[in-house]
Amino acid sequence: MKPLNENIIIINCGSQFTQLIARRLREMRVHSVIINWDASAEKVKSYSPKGIIISGGPDSVNDPDAVTIDPEILGIGCPVLGICYGMQLMTKLTGGTVRTSPRREYGVTEIQKAGGYNSSLLGENIPSKFKVLMSHGDNVCELPEGFTATSTTERGVISSIEDKERNYFGLQFHPEVIHTEHGNYILHSFVFNICKCSGDWNLSDWVNNTIESIKSSVGNSKVVCGLSGGVDSSVSAVLVHKAVGDKLQCVFVNHGLMRLNEPEAVMKEYESLGLNVKYVDASDLFLKELEGVTDPEQKRKIIGRLFIDVFEREAKKIEGAEWLLQGTIYPDVIESGLKKGAALIKSHHNVGGLPEKMNLKLLEPLRDLFKDEVRKLGKIINMPDEIIERKPFPGPGLAVRCLGSITKERLDTLRAADAIFREELKNSGHYGGIWQAFCVLLPVRSVGVMGDSRTYSEAVVLRAVNSQDAMTAEWTRIDYDIIDKVSKRICNEVQGINRVVLDVTSKPPATIEWE
Ligand code: XMP
Repeated sequence: MKPLNENIIIINCGSQFTQLIARRLREMRVHSVIINWDASAEKVKSYSPKGIIISGGPDSVNDPDAVTIDPEILGIGCPVLGICYGMQLMTKLTGGTVRTSPRREYGVTEIQKAGGYNSSLLGENIPSKFKVLMSHGDNVCELPEGFTATSTTERGVISSIEDKERNYFGLQFHPEVIHTEHGNYILHSFVFNICKCSGDWNLSDWVNNTIESIKSSVGNSKVVCGLSGGVDSSVSAVLVHKAVGDKLQCVFVNHGLMRLNEPEAVMKEYESLGLNVKYVDASDLFLKELEGVTDPEQKRKIIGRLFIDVFEREAKKIEGAEWLLQGTIYPDVIESGLKKGAALIKSHHNVGGLPEKMNLKLLEPLRDLFKDEVRKLGKIINMPDEIIERKPFPGPGLAVRCLGSITKERLDTLRAADAIFREELKNSGHYGGIWQAFCVLLPVRSVGVMGDSRTYSEAVVLRAVNSQDAMTAEWTRIDYDIIDKVSKRICNEVQGINRVVLDVTSKPPATIEWE
């Protein structure tokens, strides 16, 4: 088995593009690990990096509370590439000057290679002028000793710098975004020509290595895992199960906010995978605590708190547990807190705070995988398509789709309508291609007529969106005949609904969920 010891460390200073850097490297089959700006040089060194990339970020290096890195990191001895804020930080830490400019520059700008020679990053294959995406307020105005400017903008702003002696490189622009011409070439030069990576990362080797390393870390202790039915927690559980067998003990908390027949279906799947899962029906408790609550954030908070309480109670019963398994994936790592003291909790399934409270060590085997890689991994370890192709479902479940107060009766109404909508989409062959499709129950009554009687009932919304990553989404144009069938079925089959409406809003300006 080939050890996976080729790491590029990406130090995240808060740029919205950090994940894209990792993505670009992965496309070149180079493995990267994203760590937070406050990591020590020792921690960075522990990864034996082949190179370090310091990301962009929203701060100004001249602000007293700006994000900074341990200066010792620059002395580790491997090549360093600073991107945007990363270049300014490197400049400041090595004795140069960064000027805070009142004028922010955002957009595509043309830059010109400087110095009359082809430098090692902006190599010969790049024309002397090319377009790049800039997003910055500050400029490097005085270069640190040893550095040369290798390009400038039309206004004379330094747009890239290099110190070939020490292998330090800085780019004021973002090579990771598609708007930058030759961006891939530049990143490719850094990782292959400068860092000498071999570019042979692959998922199958990763699986074998990860299983071995989980085995040796866990030893004879036990691992506790909270399963949600979602892709990430399921794939991490099956992976860890392959490594430690029944030393993995899972807990599935039914909060009563799942879709029609979902808890039963999910439990059946887990059993067929041979996982050791304890089913905990806490739906009465959740319903009781949610009674009369209409504010979405309050709903989320109550669900989050209860989930942790129930999970902790169950996990404590597992003797010899030393590890808590979480299905954290790469995007979650990036979304985690950047500023000092910021919290990591993304949703209630990210059982934040529990590891310290229960004295458990955290096991996050999928930490450096992207969602599509998690799905591929699921296939490699022979998981069924029903699990690995499952669509995203929010941690607080139907609570954020049942607007107004949550009662068992309203949840059942919503479940029935939602099941019809998804069933008709599946029957028509469209469900697979849609990112998310679901119903929302509105606390709005309107007048209707059924047979000879007047009705005064609530309305249901059909929501379907297409998206790549849930950051933006487009409402899905579903055939009117299908919508008509769904509408008729819902009004005929679901008690308490006399009106069906279609959500035709994209994200932005709306969000995917209604709450
Ligand atoms: P929005 O509604 O913000 O949703 O456009 C983006 C994606 O996130 C899911 N979502 C959640 N997932 N806990 C979760 O685990 C939550 O509280 C939550 N809220 C939204 C949503 O389904 C969509 O895929």
